[in-house]
Parts: sequence; C-alpha cells; structure tokens
Amino acid sequence: MPRMERLQLCSLFFILLLLALVSLDLTSWAWTAPNCIIADSLLFPNLSYYIQFCTLAPGLHLLASCTNVKDMAQTLERVPRDTEVLCLQGMVSFLPDNAFDNFHSLQLLRLQLGTINITSRTFQGLDQLQYLFFEHHAPCCLSLFLPPNCLKTLKFLRSLSFQGYCLNYSQNIYLPTSLKHLTLRNSCLTKLQELQRFFPSLLLGSSPTSSTTLGAPFLEVLDLSYNLQLKQADVRALHGLKLLSLILDGTTLRAFDLTGSGLLHLDFLSLVGTGIEKLPGTVTGYSKLRALDLGKNQIQNILENGDIPSYKALEFLGLHDNHLQSLPIRFLRTLPQLQKLNLSMNKLGPTLEIPEGVFSTNLRVLDLSHNQLCDVPHGAFLPQLQELWLSGNNISSLSNVSMQGLRGLRTLDLSWNQIKVLKPGWLSHLSALTTLNLLGTYLEHISGIQLQGPQMLRHLKLGSVTMLDIYPPWFPMLLSLEIQAQACVQFMFLSGEPFLFLENLTLQTSNVLRQPDTATIHFPSLRRLTLRGYSLIISTSQLQRFFPQQLPLLEHFSIWCENDNAVDLNLFGMPRLRVLEFGYLNFFYESSTVKLEMLLKEVPQLQALALSHLNLRNLSVSSIKGLHHLKLLLLSSELSLEMDGNLQEFIPQMPPYVYFSDVTFTCQCEASWVESWATQAPNTFVYGLEKSICMANTSDYSNTLLFSFLATHCPHDTEFWGFLISFTLILLLTILPLVGCHKWSWLHYLQTLLRACWWKLGGHRLRGQFNYDVFISYCEKDQAWVLEELVPGLEKPPPKGEGLRLCLPARDFGIGNDRMESMIASMHKSRSILCVLTGQALASPWCNLELRLATYHLVARPGTARLLLLFLEPIDRQKLHGYHRLSRWLKKEDYFDLSQGEVDWDTFCEQLKRQLRKAGQERED
Ligand SMILES: *[C@@H]1O[C@H](CO)[C@@H](O)[C@H](O)[C@H]1NC(C)=O
Ligand SMILES: *[C@@H]1O[C@H](CO)[C@@H](O)[C@H](O)[C@H]1NC(C)=O
Ligand SMILES: *[C@@H]1O[C@H](CO)[C@@H](O)[C@H](O)[C@H]1NC(C)=O
Ligand SMILES: *[C@@H]1O[C@H](CO)[C@@H](O)[C@H](O)[C@H]1NC(C)=O
Ligand SMILES: *[C@@H]1O[C@H](CO)[C@@H](O)[C@H](O)[C@H]1NC(C)=O
Ligand SMILES: *[C@@H]1O[C@H](CO)[C@@H](O)[C@H](O)[C@H]1NC(C)=O
Ligand SMILES: *[C@@H]1O[C@H](CO)[C@@H](O)[C@H](O)[C@H]1NC(C)=O
Repeated sequence: MPRMERLQLCSLFFILLLLALVSLDLTSWAWTAPNCIIADSLLFPNLSYYIQFCTLAPGLHLLASCTNVKDMAQTLERVPRDTEVLCLQGMVSFLPDNAFDNFHSLQLLRLQLGTINITSRTFQGLDQLQYLFFEHHAPCCLSLFLPPNCLKTLKFLRSLSFQGYCLNYSQNIYLPTSLKHLTLRNSCLTKLQELQRFFPSLLLGSSPTSSTTLGAPFLEVLDLSYNLQLKQADVRALHGLKLLSLILDGTTLRAFDLTGSGLLHLDFLSLVGTGIEKLPGTVTGYSKLRALDLGKNQIQNILENGDIPSYKALEFLGLHDNHLQSLPIRFLRTLPQLQKLNLSMNKLGPTLEIPEGVFSTNLRVLDLSHNQLCDVPHGAFLPQLQELWLSGNNISSLSNVSMQGLRGLRTLDLSWNQIKVLKPGWLSHLSALTTLNLLGTYLEHISGIQLQGPQMLRHLKLGSVTMLDIYPPWFPMLLSLEIQAQACVQFMFLSGEPFLFLENLTLQTSNVLRQPDTATIHFPSLRRLTLRGYSLIISTSQLQRFFPQQLPLLEHFSIWCENDNAVDLNLFGMPRLRVLEFGYLNFFYESSTVKLEMLLKEVPQLQALALSHLNLRNLSVSSIKGLHHLKLLLLSSELSLEMDGNLQEFIPQMPPYVYFSDVTFTCQCEASWVESWATQAPNTFVYGLEKSICMANTSDYSNTLLFSFLATHCPHDTEFWGFLISFTLILLLTILPLVGCHKWSWLHYLQTLLRACWWKLGGHRLRGQFNYDVFISYCEKDQAWVLEELVPGLEKPPPKGEGLRLCLPARDFGIGNDRMESMIASMHKSRSILCVLTGQALASPWCNLELRLATYHLVARPGTARLLLLFLEPIDRQKLHGYHRLSRWLKKEDYFDLSQGEVDWDTFCEQLKRQLRKAGQERED
C-alpha cells in the first residue's frame, strides 16, 4: 500500500475510533430514565414518603419504577441493568420476545400496562425473577391473554399475581414448580373450575391419573380475593392441591364449605370482609387449620347454643371489626392451641370479665383495642400472655390490681385511652415488660417511679394531650423513647446519665424545655433522633444544651416542624451522621444557602440529605461541596428554586441520586445546563425535572415547563457539552496533521483524561512520582519573558532559595516527541500548572488548548490539581468569558497580576513559589 494511502486510512480509522470512544463513553454513562425513579432503598428507607414508588419485597433494594410508559424499549434502555425491582405503569399493547433480556438481576416485576399482548418468549432471560405481578386498577377487568409457555423459563418464580385482569382466553398456562403463591384478585372468576382450565399443572381436578402424571403439588398460597362473581364454590375443583393458605377476602362465598376439597393441609383461611354472620360451619376438613381470619364481618354471636365448629389446631383467630358484644366463652374454650386472638374493634366494653379457663394456656397475644373498655379486663389473666393491646379504649386509671397475673407480659399498649392517673406500683407485677405504649394520655407529669417494676423495660412511648413533665428518677436502660405532647415537654431536674443507652429518640411537641436551665442531658448512645412538632421551637441554645457537645453515634437526624420564629440550628458533634432530613424549618428563611452551607460543613460523612419545604431559594455548590460521601440528595416542595450556575462545575462530583419532588424553579437561563445534566448526566440519576415548572416571578402562574422555557428562551447550552465537543474538535484539528499511525499512546492519556472528567475520583487520587513542581504554559510570543525573567526567578538553585522544578514545553519536551502527547504527560507529572496569559496567548489556539487541558485537570481532580493564572498584560476579564468556569474553580490567591505597574519582583516570586508549593503539598496529601 502506498504510504500516503495508508496514512489516510489510519487517520480515518483513528477519527472513527475517537468518535466511537467519546460517544460510547457518553451514552453508557447517561442512564437517567425519563419518567422513572431509580432508587436504592437502603440509602433512604423513607423515600416513599416523598416520591411514590412501587412495592418492595424483603431483601430487595435496587429499584426502578417507571410511570407513563408508552414505548417499552425506550424506557428500558435507560433503566439500570442491575435493578432488582422493576415496576412499569402505562399503556403498552405488546411485550415482544425477550423484552427484559438484559435484566438478569431482576427479582420483582410489576406490570400495570393495560391490555398487553405477551408472547411465549417475553419473559425469557429473567433467570432470577421471583415475583411477577400483573395489575390493573378499576374498573374490573381487562382481558389478558397468556400463551401457555410464557412462564416456563422463570425457574425461580415464587409469586404470581393477577389483579383486575380476566384470563378468559388463556388456557393451559404452565406454572413453574417453584411457584408458591398465586393471586387472582379482582378478576372475573365465576367458578373455581376455571382455575383448572387456566393452570392445569396446579393439579386441579379429581382425576387421580392426571395428578400422578403432572408431578407433585407445589402451590402453598392461593389468593382469590375480591372475585365478586365467584359464587359457585365447588371445592372439589381444588382437589389435588396441597394448599397451606386460601384467601377469599371480599368474596361472597359466605357459606364456604371445604368438605371434600381435599385441602387437608390447609393452614390458613382468610374470609375478611365477606359479610358472614356466623362462623364457617363445622367440618373435618378444618381440623388442621391453624389460622382463621374473619375480620370485617357481621359476626355477633358465635353459636353460643348450637354446634360449635371444632378448630382443634387453631393458633390464630382474627375477629376484629365484627359486632361481638361479649366474649364467645364456650367457643374459646374449644380452642386449646390458640396463641393469638384479635378482637379489636368490637363492642365488648365497658367492663369485661374474663372467667378462668376461657383462654388456652398457649395464648400469647390478645388484642382488645377499640372496644370501649373502661378498665383493664378483670379476671384470670394468663401468666403466659406476652402481648396485650388495649389501645383506643376508655381506660382512665391504672393500678396494680388491674395488672395482676400478667407476669409474662412483654408488650403492653395502652395508647389513646383516657388515662389520668398511674397509681404507684401499677406495673409492679409486670416484671417481664419490655415495651410500653402510653401515647395519648392525659398525664401531666410522669417519673420513673410510676414506671417502676419492669426491670427489662426498653421501649417506651409517652404522650400527653397538652404538656408533659418528666421527673427523676429515670431509668437509664431504655433503648427507644418517644415523647409526644402538643404544647410542651419538660425534662425536670434530670441528672446523672438518664439516657445512657438510648438509641432512638423521637420528640413530637412544640417546645422542649429543661429545668433548671443549666442542666445538661447526655445521650451518649443515640443513633436516631427525630424531632417533630407543629411549631417546634428549637434554638441553638436549646438544642445545644439539650444535646450537648457530642452525639458521637448519631446516624439519622430528622427534624420536621413548622414554626414562625426564625430559629438557629447547628449540627456540631455528630461525626457519624449519615442521614439528614429537614422539613419546614423556618430556620432557613433568610440566607438559606449560607445557613445550609454552614450546617453541612459539620457533617462530612453524610450519605443522604432530604430537604423539604425549606424555602431554600438557591442551591449552590458551596452547600454540598464538602459532602464527599453524599449518595442521595432529595429536594421536595421548594418554590422558585435557583440552580446556581456554579453547580455545573460540580457535576462530576454530584451524588449518584438527585431527586426533585414538587419543586418549582425560577425561569432563568443560568440554569440552562440543567437540562443536559438531567437528561444526560453521566454519573447521576436525576429524577423529577422533566415535569417541573418554572416561574418568572412570584405572580407567574403560567405553569411553564422548565425545560421548554430553557429551550425557547436560552441560547442552547453551550456550556457543558459544548465544552466537551469543542475540546474534542480542537484536539482532532490540532492533532490530526501531527499524527502518524504509530502514535497511539496519547490516546490512552486522552481517554484517562476524559474518564477522569466524568467519573468521580473520590478515592482514586493520582499519587506517585511528580517529576516537576510546575508545568508552565505560555504562548510562544511570551517565551522570551518566561525564559529570561520567570524561570530564573523560580528556579533559583540552593542555597539562594529552594528552587522549583519547572517543566517548559520548549525546553523539556524531547525533540521529535508529539507536543500534545508530551503536554498531557507533563501535566500529569506536575504538581501544579501555571498559565502565563497575555492577549496574544488568548488568541492562540495552542494556548487555548493548553488552558483547556489545564482546566480539565482541575475539574477532573479537584483538590489534587492546582492551576495558577499569571496575567502579564491587562486583560479584560470578559475576554476570559469562555473560561469563566475557571473563575469558579480558582481562589483569589490563584491569580497573579503583573500588568498593574510596579511589582516587587522578589516578593512576587516568593508569593508565587509559596502558592505553587502549597499546591504541591495539597496534591500530595
Ligand atoms: C417518614 O417521614 C415522615 C415525615 O417525617 C414521617 O411522618 C414518617 O413517620 C417517616 N416514616 C418512617 C418509616 O420513618
Ligand atoms: C399478539 O401479538 C401477536 C404478534 O404480534 C399477534 O399475532 C397476535 O394476534 C396478538 N394477539 C392479540 C390477542 O392481540
Ligand atoms: C370473562 O368471563 C366472564 C365469566 O364467564 C364474563 O363475565 C366476562 O364478560 C368475560 N370477559 C371477557 C372479556 O370475555
Ligand atoms: C388486629 O387486627 C387489626 C385490623 O386488621 C390490626 O390492625 C391489628 O394490628 C391486629 N392486632 C394484632 C395484635 O396483630
Ligand atoms: C368513658 O368512661 C366515662 C366514665 O369513666 C363515661 O362517662 C364515658 O361515657 C365513657 N365514654 C365512652 C365513649 O364510653
Ligand atoms: C398494690 O399497691 C398497693 C399500694 O401500693 C399495695 O398496698 C398493695 O399491696 C398492692 N397490691 C398488690 C396485689 O400488689
Ligand atoms: C430504632 O429505629 C429504627 C428505625 O425505625 C429501628 O430499625 C431500630 O430497631 C430501632 N432501635 C431500637 C433500639 O428500637
């Protein structure tokens, strides 16, 4: 091949490669998905409070939830491949083969897509899938056709659910044998026999031959709730199933009879909200039943005179929300295994006598909430009862007599009663108590004496309608404490270490006070602090005296309050704080950015920050700059927020998840970078900007979408991506003539550099050998001054001064080496970069390029690279406009101006040297 041709071919190949490299990197990093929320629920478990997203199964935390889906492929393209949970809501008519091909980690898939057409290979490749939900919410029901083999490849499927769908046209759907839980809820099932037609492999049907050929039964839970047309309950249709649980809530199968169903293993039967008035009839089939939920029905009397169904094995019985007016004593006596009885929301009060022998000796949990009881039930309580729930009754006074015989009680819930008095020693019999709930009382003061008795009390909730004073002695063994009082909570004369082991503290009140004012209260073990109040007045002095010096273990701090007073706040002494949640704090009313910045300076370990209703006005780099561990930033319910232009320099270090929920912005072009960031952000998932509106002023209610404002009113964002594109172009233009085919090595540098720009360098500091202290970038026309004046001044050899090792392109680049390659390499090997700027320099493409490269070093490695600018001539700073990003990164000490008259040369050199040396040290730290 002639040399010329080869060279051209090489160049072409090279250009393509470069373009491919750049575009590849850009697309693979851009994973912001329109209309989707991507989250890691481990970071911030309370996210669903701010942003609606889909259900989680235990153990799963990486989730993607997309709404308004119209084009499936387009949506999925932007969803991270390693997501564990995927919820899709929208209108999609067709799910093609291998629709979820790339999602090998997917364990939960919820589809709310209207009428969908599914092929037999749609779910291929979902090797890990455990939960598959098809949901359609009212009106009932859409028809769904499932090809027989479409679930065949889901080898780990445990749970399959159809809600609001009719499977009328489906037949012979193969179910994987891993399936444990099948739900057909609110669908148009009319007969149980239909199940057999849909899912023959469930072993439905009475033919013993078919059951042997189809293998062992596997389904454990069958949920047919809310099938309103399911009237004909020929349970023989369920023959062959070895169900453990059958859920028929909200159906009209009142007189459901399991005789002959063969469900001998049935463990749990749920008939909630079916309108039944009697217990389901007596059947031998029930003999193994361990749990029966009959809540929300019309049961008044349980066959006190007639035949009592025998539930010999029953351990749990739910009779909540019925019309019981007395305890079904005879019936309860027939339940020798009963462990948990839920009688809440009946009409058993006001006095309830419990005769001896009513409850089995196995009873552990008894719920008598909301029964209009006026006293703790009298009678023979059981020493083995572990939980007693008495919330929402009419109990007013408690004494030791009430609690007699509850020796084994661990949890006692007396919340929302009319409690006005706690007689001393009322808990003296409850020596095993660990958890006590006294929210919603009328007590005005309480002391440890009133809570004496239980040695093991660890979790306490206390609440009063108006105000609550806490008196000593207090007990230091509490692990969690919640106090609510509308007006005021006062800690009186508490001394010593009353909260030595306390881990969780929640205060919900308007005012927290101490008596005397000088007392300090220590919380040395506190991990989670929640302060809520309608007008909680927290001032620095209050908070600080309350939580003095240190909360060394605090990890989670949440303050929500609405108050009129501008108050002060700080976060000193919380070195382990990971999650910070602020809502409604009037504290931020003025100069919010500054205050936020000051606050956040104190908590460098922060991983999640949620700000809501703060009236922040402005989000700027300075607030979040120091938070190197920040993974999640959530802004909710903020009005006319400005996104400071300087944030864009911070893009490489933005946290991986940034959410905006119900935030409006100011219509201004300074935010023009936001769109490219939000839609193409390389390493950050941005949620919630697409639908955000902006306001031109406070009375602008035109509901302009932020992005459409930016598109129509602002010059296209040349800042961020333009930066990259021009950079690439300049490189190409400059380099191509110089490039020979053998010179590939600089490509490596370019790639490193580009990567460095985009990836957070977090821990990856570039350490190692620095050959030079300073790389000096200058224009050829200024070479004489540099070589004759500057270099001797800085390179002074010892003993006269500590000389700096300088790198000068003209002198130190090897002859014949490519200048570009050498330049990048030398910048890497230098502790700092000094740019000598003159008008000519700015006009020269080479100098421009050097300056840009230097800037990249700066942006890509903040804190490790240092750039200093030296102005030789007066230069209109406006001319630097193209570099105004620079000005944001540079400090005042980084500029040296030699253009203004006389400068003492020696002083200047010393100053410059000091700065350069400082830069070098910082870089090596
Ligand atoms: C979530 O935050 C809200 C608002 O502070 C609070 O009411 C709720 O209890 C929190 N939920 C959890 C589970 O922490
Ligand atoms: C589903 O899609 C397939 C392939 O596009 C088509 O042949 C079939 O008729 C569709 N079925 C329904 C019920 O729409
Ligand atoms: C499905 O079957 C039920 C009962 O046979 C019927 O009421 C309903 O109209 C059917 N739905 C469709 C879409 O055919
Ligand atoms: C009793 O049932 C009600 C209603 O379902 C429920 O909220 C409550 O938690 C149950 N009680 C216990 C102790 O589980
Ligand atoms: C609660 O008890 C008081 C007496 O202690 C009684 O006057 C009042 O009517 C009761 N309230 C209800 C709702 O039963
Ligand atoms: C209940 O407390 C009173 C007064 O403290 C005491 O005299 C009485 O003996 C106690 N009764 C029981 C059963 O503990
Ligand atoms: C503190 O609260 C968290 C979150 O609600 C909970 O997971 C933890 O178990 C609580 N710790 C104690 C000691 O109650």
